[in-house]
Amino acid sequence: MAFFRKKKALLNYTAVPTHIAIIMDGNGRWAKKRSLPRTAGHAAGSKKFKEIARYCNKIGIKYLTVYAFSTENWKRPKEEVDTIMNIFRDYLKDSANFKSENIMLKFIGDRSGMPEDIVKLMNNAEYDSKDATGLKCYMAINYGGRDELVHAVRDIVKEGIRETDITEETISSHIYTKDYPDPELIIRPSGEYRLSNFLIWQSAYSEFWFSNVLWPDFTTDDLDRAIEDYNKRNRRFGGI
Ligand code: IPE
Ligand code: IPE
Ligand code: MG
Repeated sequence: MAFFRKKKALLNYTAVPTHIAIIMDGNGRWAKKRSLPRTAGHAAGSKKFKEIARYCNKIGIKYLTVYAFSTENWKRPKEEVDTIMNIFRDYLKDSANFKSENIMLKFIGDRSGMPEDIVKLMNNAEYDSKDATGLKCYMAINYGGRDELVHAVRDIVKEGIRETDITEETISSHIYTKDYPDPELIIRPSGEYRLSNFLIWQSAYSEFWFSNVLWPDFTTDDLDRAIEDYNKRNRRFGGI
């Protein structure tokens, strides 16, 4: 009972943003603090993602985009990249659980750069959850905002769209997020104050919320606090 009273005081559920995006950062430092290998941090981060996605579904967020692996993360030692890929495999094999929770799972990013068996698992997970009517959860894997724009421009050229017909809408309808609105709120834990190539087109008017908490330590209360702060912001979109 006390739990629910506290929750209610912390967050007015009627005022949640439509689309929240999270840069799930700080796994490596979380592990280091515990004298564990960085890979243990990624496992803990994956667990945390499931918890936060479920919570977003519960409080009525419509869209959640999480940054799981960037186009730049291939620079890391092969051993770490391999372990992250194995965590994806395990997660995707297990993702049928999301279907039973009415969460739709989709992926954004360049699949052509991903191991073939993982692409198959990603396609299956999308297919299995396509009829879910709750949270629409988009996981950014092998995603880079600049790479996304390069692909969009290539597609626009391929389609032979005339120069004078190109508008902002043309770009918005050729990027990975074409089917859903821009994020109102972008959350980055881990004490870094940057986008690291995440949703660079979509974040033009997003509100940002930063925290020093490392992603595996992030809690539903942190998310409530981010939403509460977001609700106090005055979004002007260039107006007055
Ligand atoms: C985020 O955590 C996960 C990925 C980028 C795959 P990090 O691995 O970047 O953790 P830190 O920033 O080194 O602590
Ligand atoms: C951004 O984190 C990518 C993900 C969280 C997946 P990084 O750890 O890669 O970002 P930088 O290198 O600190 O900018
Ligand atoms: Mg990092």
